[in-house]
Amino acid sequence: MARHLITSALPYINGIKHLGNMVGSMLPADVYSRYLRQRGHDVLYICATDEHGTPAELAAKEQGLPVADFCAQAHDAQKAVYDGFALAFDYFGRSSSAQNVEITQHFARRLHENGFIEERAIRQVYSPTDGRFLPDRYVEGTCPHCGYDKARGDQCENCTRVLDPTDLINPRSAISGSTDLEVRETKHLFLLQSKLQHKVEAWVARHEDDWPQLASSIARKWLNEGLHDRAITRDLDWGVPVPADTWPELAAEGKVFYVWFDAPIEYIGATKEWADLDPANRDWKSWWYDVDTDVRYTEFMAKDNVPFHTVMFPATELGVREPWKKVDYVKAFNWLTYYGGKFSTSQKRGVFTDQALEILPADYWRYFLIANAPESDDSSFTWEHFTATVNKDLADTLGNFVNRVLSFSRKRFGDEVPAGGEPGEAETKLGGQIAELLAEYESHMESLQFRKAAAALRALWSAGNSYLEEKAPWLEIKTDKDGAALTLRTAMNLIHLYAVVSEPFIPATSAAMRQAFSLDGDIASWVTADEARALTAVPAGTPFTVPPVLFAKLTDEDLEAYKKRFGGEPGQ
Ligand code: MF3
Ligand code: ZN
Repeated sequence: MARHLITSALPYINGIKHLGNMVGSMLPADVYSRYLRQRGHDVLYICATDEHGTPAELAAKEQGLPVADFCAQAHDAQKAVYDGFALAFDYFGRSSSAQNVEITQHFARRLHENGFIEERAIRQVYSPTDGRFLPDRYVEGTCPHCGYDKARGDQCENCTRVLDPTDLINPRSAISGSTDLEVRETKHLFLLQSKLQHKVEAWVARHEDDWPQLASSIARKWLNEGLHDRAITRDLDWGVPVPADTWPELAAEGKVFYVWFDAPIEYIGATKEWADLDPANRDWKSWWYDVDTDVRYTEFMAKDNVPFHTVMFPATELGVREPWKKVDYVKAFNWLTYYGGKFSTSQKRGVFTDQALEILPADYWRYFLIANAPESDDSSFTWEHFTATVNKDLADTLGNFVNRVLSFSRKRFGDEVPAGGEPGEAETKLGGQIAELLAEYESHMESLQFRKAAAALRALWSAGNSYLEEKAPWLEIKTDKDGAALTLRTAMNLIHLYAVVSEPFIPATSAAMRQAFSLDGDIASWVTADEARALTAVPAGTPFTVPPVLFAKLTDEDLEAYKKRFGGEPGQ
């Protein structure tokens, strides 16, 4: 039994996330956590909302709410959706928590003591009309590279170039629209990443061979370009305050840390939030501090987050010079596209997680998304592919098998698992197949190859169908009642096995399959190879019920309705 610390990239507070966000971080982390828990490991799965920065302030302003109120509401709204998706976080925290403030300030002080933070005067856009500096997205204007006239101070959405607010042509305030802007000098804290380059390089070199190529190649690229010193404070009202004991002047000016400085620290902060709810039984430090060997730490994220997790956050942790746990394995994802185009939060293009749950229960989405996770390449969401997959894999291969077996057995043998004769050649062959597929499934899960794991799970379901077709108990019963009973009992044992092994993917359906049988115990524990081969966990005489249809078949009308509601055309 090992200890597994698992985090998924913290979703920004502003707005409900789309399916692309879900499949690129939280959902696979949940699948992996559930799997490891079933295998008996000690798992801590942590996530939180990423609440600071200009997007939060601007979204709050749009809704006419104080930022703190906006964030509290938006946190609860996201949490409700994640509950709907059955994400089994051990804790879902908030980066604005007191715990994160404390740890972030501690990190900053240590970095300062170790000579990795320096105060520098920089020139920043100031708006006399608004009475404040305008960092990042608070300035809009024309992009100096491509001429796009709605470029933001941090980045041009048109040509994707990273910008500084002072680069913009004809700048205006995103708050008041004022063009009466000046450039003023102001002091900010800089993290001297250039001084940490060698340490980070050595650390990456020790780990990159274990990481998937997507993660290691991005880390390498950033290191090769060289780490630059960067400003880690901003002139904003909302954020982790610069600690006054260390930087009285900047604190008095109301400076806060930049969102990307405090967000990853919230992985630790949220763990402390979790522990503070039950301090007698939860030890947050045992997961994060001085634990290099007995905790395995796996991070999940989309590829745009990789530089922050493989280079920048490790640089911060290394600069602190305390034994904070660093990531062991970085699971990175490419993009899920919507008909080949971008899912876009700002343009409301694609399917959002709350809408998805309005249409169908979580298990439909969980299975489809993981089976098509953008692992080795981008993958595309289309309604055609979604409905076809649901119908084939979930409704036909799994759902129909379960209902057919249980209803037929009840009709012919009553409400208890029938006995039948001793297992024969077909059962021995089936057991061998199942044991082999199970081993395959386990090895893909262990190496975090989710698409392959889904394929192995699908193969397990299919093996049951082949067995049933081959034995055809509805014919067998006419000539060999005992034989038919054996077939059904074996098939019911498959259902029980499916309940256990499908749990990471489709937890609600697994519970329904498991509850069909009145057995002690639960699906919390895994199946051994011997159990898979024997298929006798559900003995003859066990009472059972027939659950309602597990997965509804989606019709052509459903497909048309989805496309009409969401738009089913290639975008840009
Ligand atoms: N909110 C960021 C995003 O959505 C991810 C933050 S991950 C963390 O891209 F490590 F910083 F927390
Ligand atoms: Zn541009």
